[in-house]
Amino acid sequence: KDKVTIGLCGLGTVGTGVIRILQNHQEEIKHKLGCEIEVKKILVHTLNKSREIDFAPELLTTEAEELVGDKDIDIIIEVMGGIEGTYPLLEKALKNKKHIITANKDLMAVHGQKLLQLAKANHCDIFYEASVAGGIPILRSLTDGLASDRIQKMMGIVNGTTNYILTKMTDDQLAYETVLKEAQDLGYAEADPTADVGGLDAARKMALLANLAFKMNINLNDVEVTGITSISQEDIVFAARLGYTIKLIGVASVFDGKVEVSVEPTLLPEDHPLALVKNEYNAVYIYGEAVGETMFYGPGAGSMPTATSVVSDLMEAVKNIRLGINGNSYVTPQFETRLKENAE
Ligand code: NDP
Ligand code: HSE
Repeated sequence: KDKVTIGLCGLGTVGTGVIRILQNHQEEIKHKLGCEIEVKKILVHTLNKSREIDFAPELLTTEAEELVGDKDIDIIIEVMGGIEGTYPLLEKALKNKKHIITANKDLMAVHGQKLLQLAKANHCDIFYEASVAGGIPILRSLTDGLASDRIQKMMGIVNGTTNYILTKMTDDQLAYETVLKEAQDLGYAEADPTADVGGLDAARKMALLANLAFKMNINLNDVEVTGITSISQEDIVFAARLGYTIKLIGVASVFDGKVEVSVEPTLLPEDHPLALVKNEYNAVYIYGEAVGETMFYGPGAGSMPTATSVVSDLMEAVKNIRLGINGNSYVTPQFETRLKENAE
């Protein structure tokens, strides 16, 4: 194939970044892949909306069938968000033998297992690096870079919106509502920020990390979740007086085959490495039996960082298409066995 054809579902914060990277890094991407990438259709909700990028307006459609039903489209990139609209869309795309790239942790934490199985049955790939910690290549680091190790514990800040809110409440003494609005305006928050501030977004990401690290299938109901909505300015000031910073921390650990996953506001000494992670940045600490302590840090939300992960996934999918292989590198053999057991 000299050209791989894409259908892009969503042209909001992340989708716009994807188009920008494909336009701005076109030559490098073509050189690395040895082929061109063409965006054939873009699915949006509202056609006549002002957009921040230059693109051919005839690419836009509100009909999902024009993407998932088009036999010339090889890969669907889903950056729409939500579960109800996206699950049937991706199910149909996989049945039509299209590879999937998604940034959707809501979908992957709830229906990931089913979609991965469907992908396998249809010899397709699903990549979802952007769904956890935005621009940090954390899924690949876990499953490729640390593949030889036994991961015992992970701990981190995996929600950009809440870290932005807590940082601004702490450093600038701004009110919760003011900074939540800023996080929304900057494109960090979900369309409905309840999942961000309530801790569910972080819980979904910790479940996805734990699934990969411990080869498990974590049920979200088993994750202990407390968000930041009850954290007051007084709590923050009081903690600071004692030399502590409040952060929303996700923890996932395995001991004797028993996995525990939680997300909750946590008091950290102000010189703790995770206390120094500010604004929308994320950081994930991973402890492996052989490697010891590792830490991954970077922008956890926002247009270009998240789009970087999406386009890097896209490039991996294109490489697989060109090699005539499929096999999602995030799915380890043990995980596949587990998927099979679940299906039975
Ligand atoms: P936005 O709300 O900015 O964009 C959503 C896009 O999807 C819009 O272009 C919208 O169309 C389109 N859309 C939504 N619903 C439909 C529908 N039913 N039919 C057709 N088009 C639809 O979201 P984001 O870009 O912020 O997020 C997208 C995904 O990426 C989510 O899953 C999110 O969790 C994930 N993500 C986001 C990050 C971020 O920093 N923002 C970081 C990591 C992951 P229209 O433009 O016409 O309204
Ligand atoms: N709303 C999410 C966050 C986007 O703030 O972390 C990145 O997944």
